[in-house]
Amino acid sequence: MSATRKLVTGAAPEGARDPDSAAHAVREMFTSIAPHYDLLNHVLSFNIDRLWWRRTARTFAQILAQPDCRILDLCCGTGDMTFALSKQAGNRRPQVLGADFSHAMLQRARSKSLDKLSANGPSSTPRWIEADALRLPFPDQHFNLVTSAFGFRNLADYDAGLREIARVLRPGGECGILDFSEPKGIIGNFYRLYFKQILPRVGTILSGVRGPYAYLPNSVERFPEPPEMLVRMRLAGFREATWTPYTLGIAGLYRGKK
Ligand SMILES: C[S@@+](CC[C@H](N)C(=O)[O-])C[C@H]1O[C@@H](n2cnc3c(N)ncnc32)[C@H](O)[C@@H]1O
Repeated sequence: MSATRKLVTGAAPEGARDPDSAAHAVREMFTSIAPHYDLLNHVLSFNIDRLWWRRTARTFAQILAQPDCRILDLCCGTGDMTFALSKQAGNRRPQVLGADFSHAMLQRARSKSLDKLSANGPSSTPRWIEADALRLPFPDQHFNLVTSAFGFRNLADYDAGLREIARVLRPGGECGILDFSEPKGIIGNFYRLYFKQILPRVGTILSGVRGPYAYLPNSVERFPEPPEMLVRMRLAGFREATWTPYTLGIAGLYRGKK
């Protein structure tokens, strides 16, 4: 952690006074952009997001190859990470569950699921559940794999989020957290220009909603850097905690084993 960064508890959208109001603001924000979320995601990331989800799913190919394994994709939003996991599992049919606390985001996931069902048949259909990542409605030691793509950063309490993931994982189970990061050097300069100046403006114009696309770069800036996240993961009970940068460190995958 750099000397200028303060230890943060979790996401803090503008105006949030405590973890409850932060969570409420995050849910409202994603609900407001749900109708445009997919299009904006692909446009603003130049479609690289698809590669990141697939790469993450491939990383866990061994777990996904087990026929009766249970997978939870947290903060699943409109479901693209969840679909990538199902696709990677192929016809081995593990139980893949996508969870999110925004009803509107889940509705999009469900309707995409129905489209895929008619196109591909039932083998690759995840199930969806409305749930808060900090209070999961699952027993201890239930899942073989818990993932989260671009969602964990939005939790109001990162350490509580990690503890909750560890709680629902079986011993030996793995977690994979894919999220943005701030690259350094010249790439970092370009990244900051795009992420802080261009993306919020384009996002606001295309979605017609002010706020969420300014929150995005702020939340990435606030998010712990990899060395600090790895310490937090170890403290929450994960071993073999690693971070793998994706696309010059614009994003990256945290992995840990319970
Ligand atoms: C940036 S979107 C990511 C969606 C998807 N995983 C993806 O890769 O496109 C973040 C999602 O996290 C969800 N989220 C944030 N905090 C949450 C919480 N405490 N519990 C459940 N979902 C949460 C939001 O509702 C939103 O759908």
